[in-house]
Amino acid sequence: MKLHTSEIPIGKHQARRKTQKLAPLIVSAFLLTIITLSYPGIIRDSQKISEDNSQAFESLDHDSIIPTSTTRLDQKNYQPCSSGKIDAPGCNSSLGGEDIQARKSPPNITASPPLTSTQHVMVANETLTEKGEDNCDLFSGEWVPNPEGPYYTNMTCNAIEEHQNCMKFGRPDLGFLKWRWKPDACELPIFDPQQFLELVRGKSLAFVGDSVARNHMQSLICLLSKVVYPVDVSSSADANKHHEYRDYDFNISIFSSPYLVKTERTEPNDITRPFNLYLDEYDQSWTNQIEDFDYVIISAGQWFFRPTYFYLNRSLVGCLYCPEANITHFTSSFSYRHAFRTAFRAINRAKKFKGITYLRTFAPSHFEGAQWDKGGDCARTRPFKRNETLLEDFSSKMHSIQLEELKTAQEEAWRKNGSKFRFFDATKPMLLRPDGHPSKYGHWPVQNVTVANDCVHWCLPGPIDSWNDFLQELLKREIDH
Ligand SMILES: *[C@@H]1O[C@H](CO)[C@@H](O)[C@H](O)[C@H]1NC(C)=O
Ligand SMILES: *[C@@H]1O[C@H](CO)[C@@H](O)[C@H](O)[C@H]1NC(C)=O
Ligand SMILES: *[C@@H]1O[C@H](CO)[C@@H](O)[C@H](O)[C@H]1NC(C)=O
Ligand SMILES: *[C@@H]1O[C@H](CO)[C@@H](O)[C@H](O)[C@H]1NC(C)=O
Ligand SMILES: *[C@@H]1O[C@H](CO)[C@@H](O)[C@H](O)[C@H]1NC(C)=O
Ligand SMILES: *[C@@H]1O[C@H](CO)[C@@H](O)[C@H](O)[C@H]1NC(C)=O
Ligand SMILES: *[C@@H]1O[C@H](CO)[C@@H](O)[C@H](O)[C@H]1NC(C)=O
Ligand SMILES: *[C@@H]1O[C@H](CO)[C@@H](O)[C@H](O)[C@H]1NC(C)=O
Ligand SMILES: *[C@@H]1O[C@H](CO)[C@@H](O)[C@H](O)[C@H]1NC(C)=O
Ligand SMILES: *[C@@H]1O[C@H](CO)[C@@H](O)[C@H](O)[C@H]1NC(C)=O
Repeated sequence: MKLHTSEIPIGKHQARRKTQKLAPLIVSAFLLTIITLSYPGIIRDSQKISEDNSQAFESLDHDSIIPTSTTRLDQKNYQPCSSGKIDAPGCNSSLGGEDIQARKSPPNITASPPLTSTQHVMVANETLTEKGEDNCDLFSGEWVPNPEGPYYTNMTCNAIEEHQNCMKFGRPDLGFLKWRWKPDACELPIFDPQQFLELVRGKSLAFVGDSVARNHMQSLICLLSKVVYPVDVSSSADANKHHEYRDYDFNISIFSSPYLVKTERTEPNDITRPFNLYLDEYDQSWTNQIEDFDYVIISAGQWFFRPTYFYLNRSLVGCLYCPEANITHFTSSFSYRHAFRTAFRAINRAKKFKGITYLRTFAPSHFEGAQWDKGGDCARTRPFKRNETLLEDFSSKMHSIQLEELKTAQEEAWRKNGSKFRFFDATKPMLLRPDGHPSKYGHWPVQNVTVANDCVHWCLPGPIDSWNDFLQELLKREIDH
């Protein structure tokens, strides 16, 4: 099944600008993503609960993944978070019985230990990344002031989704726009739209992922809009979009696939109910279309913290945050690892595909002070220095799963002399940008509805624009080779 954001009824008054070709299905998409803001908090306790399960899983070999442990939860107090209300207070977002905070309270910067994030983030093995001639790791670095930014505004770009249009909704501080990423060992050139369009002439680029992937694509379209807008040739009812830059014979498509694998709703008309994930089956909405692309940027994130049922070989093998006592409870590591393994396998087995796959790694959210649904917020106005923050355990876990699966995929690709897999580490740079999220400045057009602060997506313009600085540099490195 494909996740049609359009399946959620939206009011017509909610569309942004009628004339705007690129205007996405704003409200429906936001509903989805706000739901997916959810649950980052619960992962902590559940990790404790089913650590055994994921270890059991990880020690198994690739094709015989059947959980052996049957750790079960005490279900007596558990009510799933699944009523129609997004921020339903009655449901338990914590499984352990303790009132555990979603996130650490804001780090006390002056008192935080002088640690660098690289001590806590698994560092890319050199084999993962194509280094430039100067052998520079693009992703080790820091944010430095850049008085030149931003490179577009909500007045010059019409592809900004309402919920990421932080300027429009009155975000008072604009200092967060005045930073650029500086790798330790080299410079990362700022995105040059004309140069980029020449670089990708005759090529096609696909994004595969969730609304953060769309956020990235919209940043790219805005950065390119100084030169030209694409023609959107997709139907408005389709969550997958196809954009053509005809003067450059360059295409950008996005395939909406938050779980990367085949999924199914347990309740067809209720997006808030759990999903069934067929973890060893392809999501053909993208795997069937990928062969023709030159570049694929694949990513996945917050959706894996939602209640889900896991299937392997069409059998129910476990779940995340389900109320049933007779089902094995796993952490989201289980589904995350499987999803990437299956997605990479699909790419490796796509016979005609000779392109390059970029794994854009997990972009951490930044709720502080409370859980996402208890008023947690991201109100900082400047980036962290490396020594001011740490990747939380579960983010670190997600990141290392991605790297491990990428490595496995690279090895298979080498054996088959086929496509290339590359590492696009958004995790480390974005960990340092608690100031880059919409927070409350991404208002829902229906002002009545109170929604959680958005500390998952990124303002446009904003720090996510740097992902296209990375993209430009990564593409350049391939071509220079
Ligand atoms: C779950 O929620 C119910 C109802 O709000 C509450 O009585 C119970 O204590 C909660 N359980 C946990 C584990 O938080
Ligand atoms: C931060 O740490 C300093 C020094 O240890 C302490 O004086 C201060 O109260 C702390 N602030 C907060 C908000 O915890
Ligand atoms: C963090 O590093 C900066 C230099 O980049 C330094 O000035 C600052 O004192 C460090 N802070 C802590 C808490 O170590
Ligand atoms: C990187 O991977 C290679 C091959 O798998 C291994 O020999 C090497 O020790 C790894 N290096 C690091 C720094 O992990
Ligand atoms: C752009 O942002 C400004 C505030 O900086 C706001 O007044 C305006 O309505 C916004 N325009 C659009 C088209 O979003
Ligand atoms: C871009 O898309 C159009 C329409 O699907 C197709 O005809 C064209 O060949 C594509 N260009 C590239 C470079 O893939
Ligand atoms: C998958 O399930 C089918 C029947 O349901 C069974 O025949 C087959 O052996 C299973 N395959 C694996 C790899 O377990
Ligand atoms: C769990 O128990 C219910 C009845 O309590 C049963 O219908 C269901 O098939 C069981 N599921 C599994 C996976 O054993
Ligand atoms: C792998 O591909 C390269 C270039 O496409 C080719 O020269 C080489 O012979 C191939 N090697 C194998 C083992 O197929
Ligand atoms: C806003 O809330 C009021 C009262 O709660 C309700 O009557 C009205 O229909 C709501 N407006 C919208 C646009 O939902």
